[in-house]
Amino acid sequence: MNKQLYSTLIFELSRHGRRGHSLPGYGTAKKFVLPEKFARKDTPALPEVEEPAVVRHYTNSSTNNFGVDTGFYPLGSCTMKYNPKINEAAVRLSGISDLHPATPDACAQGALEIYRRLQELLSEMGGMSEFSLNPYAGAHGELTGLMVVRTYHASRGEGAVRRKVIVPDSAHGTNPASAAIAGYDVVECRSLPDGTVDVEDLRSKLGPDVAAVMMTNPNTVGMFEKNIPAIAEAVHACGALMYYDGANLNALLGVARPGDMGFDVMHINLHKTFSTPHGGGGPGAGPIGVRKGLERFLPMPRVVRGDDGMLRVLDDSTETPFERTELDPLGRVSSWLGNYAVFVKALAYILSMGKDIEQVGPLACLNANYILNSLKEMYELPIPGPCKHEMVFDGLRDKSTGCTTMNVAKRLLDMGFHAPTIYFPLLFHESLMIEPTETESRETLDVFINAMRAIAREAAEDPETLKNAPLHTPVRHPDENEAALHPKVTYQSLAADEV
Ligand SMILES: Cc1ncc(COP(=O)(O)O)c(C=O)c1O
Repeated sequence: MNKQLYSTLIFELSRHGRRGHSLPGYGTAKKFVLPEKFARKDTPALPEVEEPAVVRHYTNSSTNNFGVDTGFYPLGSCTMKYNPKINEAAVRLSGISDLHPATPDACAQGALEIYRRLQELLSEMGGMSEFSLNPYAGAHGELTGLMVVRTYHASRGEGAVRRKVIVPDSAHGTNPASAAIAGYDVVECRSLPDGTVDVEDLRSKLGPDVAAVMMTNPNTVGMFEKNIPAIAEAVHACGALMYYDGANLNALLGVARPGDMGFDVMHINLHKTFSTPHGGGGPGAGPIGVRKGLERFLPMPRVVRGDDGMLRVLDDSTETPFERTELDPLGRVSSWLGNYAVFVKALAYILSMGKDIEQVGPLACLNANYILNSLKEMYELPIPGPCKHEMVFDGLRDKSTGCTTMNVAKRLLDMGFHAPTIYFPLLFHESLMIEPTETESRETLDVFINAMRAIAREAAEDPETLKNAPLHTPVRHPDENEAALHPKVTYQSLAADEV
């Protein structure tokens, strides 16, 4: 291991007896003595470090990473937009952060009101009849949505025959994975050269054995699926349901609603569009919405308003004044109500945006098209624009230099940008997917565009330097296979390496 590539570990700063605090009176105060049976025999291996060293260590470590608060993060498909801090502040209000999830409903009316209002607003924005906020992520929402589909077909006595889910070849990998985990056979449907679904291919795969068609709009190459009404008509005619992957809803926010396009079930990634950053393993939330007639298949628990005006958490086991026949849910998919803090941020975001939320989609698309048009001379654009909120280049236009998308992405790190998404979607060899989002200014986009152009020039003039990038990051060329297969994420595993 080359130690110079890593910042010093807090354990390596440790000196026996050092303390990071001095509390007046400590030592003379009556000590609480832990009963012997609870006291551990060994001393925990904790670092002993003075306060300035602790503060500097963690402050410096935090700057070794890249975040949307430190710079432009054009990670295609991930909608890494800037999240206003006021929404974080809302979650930290003690009435919210100190509330135990088991608090009796009567004492948690405010918290339940937040849940209920978000349900209603998402229903309004999605053009759906009802939402459940319970699922923890987009993929979890997909799975839950497909379980709703399955329960719906089962309730009509068609559960056993409707065994297939159709997924376009451009779909995010979670779509076929969720369909398979929900017990369906996945049938792939082709895309046309313009990146949209081949309607004729889709039609040829429809039949009485199809349970649902999953679609993303705009799709994963940033194209609007303009044939949705015709597709929805054909899908419904064969008795199947339309599933909307709403991970790209940012592009449509304020302009179009999946429910109006003919979708029956959908999910939204709150951790993209609604003020929680995407990535890093969460926490997120993937609420699902359903059109009228499917509400009873939503999972439990649900927040409902009683005749007395009080909100209640309705669980399978709850004694309720509601007719059981009205609610025919598929059971639980989360503990408690889901990732509550994410709901609070989403509601705070929606309310603080007010009518400005109608600008989100148009500005996200404007920013993306500005980049597309500024770079298409130097980067290969397999699907001509205009695009929606993101675009895919197929690497540098000039392929003769041997410089790859990976080289471009690594060079961007040297220039202070997070890399775009690379080698996804799988439709092109050198995919480079850029999503600027609506939160970036014209000036930021210009600096990024100039950097991308400078990289393209470098590929022609000094390809060897480009192939060696990054040159200025704390870690330069990790073995990516090894890092994925045998990650070393603890002090012990690094220390064991040195023995
Ligand atoms: C189009 C699309 N669908 C589904 C997902 C899955 O969402 P999650 O990562 O929250 O599971 C993503 C994630 O980026 C996505 O881009």
